[in-house]
Amino acid sequence: MTEQQFIPQVYSKDITEGTVSWESPSNIALIKYWGKKKDQIPENPSISFTLNACKTTTVLSYTKKETTSDFDFKVYLDGEHKPDFQPKIKTFFERVLVYLPFLKDYTFKIETSNTFPHSSGIASSASGMSALALCLMSLEQQLQPDMTATFFNQKASFLSRLGSGSACRSIEGDLIVWGENETVEGSSDLFGVKYPYAVHENFKNYQDTILLVDKGEKQVSSTVGHNLMHGHPFATQRFAQAHDNLASLKPILESGHLDAFIALIESEALTLHAMMMTSMPYFILMKPNTLEVINKIWAFRKETGLHIGFTLDAGANVHVLYPKSQAEVILKFIKTELASHCQNGQFICDEIGFGAKQINMSH
Ligand code: PMV
Repeated sequence: MTEQQFIPQVYSKDITEGTVSWESPSNIALIKYWGKKKDQIPENPSISFTLNACKTTTVLSYTKKETTSDFDFKVYLDGEHKPDFQPKIKTFFERVLVYLPFLKDYTFKIETSNTFPHSSGIASSASGMSALALCLMSLEQQLQPDMTATFFNQKASFLSRLGSGSACRSIEGDLIVWGENETVEGSSDLFGVKYPYAVHENFKNYQDTILLVDKGEKQVSSTVGHNLMHGHPFATQRFAQAHDNLASLKPILESGHLDAFIALIESEALTLHAMMMTSMPYFILMKPNTLEVINKIWAFRKETGLHIGFTLDAGANVHVLYPKSQAEVILKFIKTELASHCQNGQFICDEIGFGAKQINMSH
């Protein structure tokens, strides 16, 4: 598959107005995407758990307009007009115009809301960009009704990627691979694909409790972080390691070997942050409480033998991962020992999910 296949032919239908809506989840990478080439092509493959509770709902209303000279849209968050969201969406529209040539033909109203607190430090770009991409695909499907479901999802993922790389892993669930690699047949740099091999019962309903260690604005954005992988002294080894880790994960996912799983994902999380610390300029996104939490998780694991592990995204928050079968004891530990390291004691209980859902708008 190449980009060309996402450029539509002439549409068969004419649509004057309507409303569509999607809810789309966030995702948490087990093997991390860090470093990209032009047009959001990843330097290495990544794999993620799709989440369930952390999601964005977007309602897209569209009315055909007279002139087609420029984009015309307004963005609302929780009912409030957000002119400051405009530039990011405009950049996205410019990037995808060749794939969605109808974008200048309509006046759009984009109404969005998140299930997680807006300033929680949880990136809303994956859920937000994928929800918007799915809404645009629903409009395109009306213009071109013979579209297959497979193409719909692939193109929604492809467009999400152009909005925010990791967003391409939010369309489906429960395990998604993005980035071409030898281990996973059908994998692509252009969009996410469902992990196609056997997954042990141990990983069904896997839990992710997100500890909100620091809700502040990050000092260094992901965009800057990705770019610092260009000319990074360890870039080549890191990209090769991600391929190797994906190959190692396959037998782990099949056998349900939880100790090996935890070792691999924790190493991935710390490697991600090691790349930040060894960039030039270097930076640190972990906070003292991030390390407190990690040390407590390790001590608790040693003491109890329970399968509690962690991963990190590009920030100070900690994702605590564990099997559903051990949830009761681990959640109690989180509440009594870890919550005190979170801002205002806040954490979000999430678990593995199965992807985005369309919301019926007919009244
Ligand atoms: O999608 P971006 O550009 O915000 O990058 C996300 C990068 C990480 O969250 C750190 C890793 C990942 O694979 O999601």
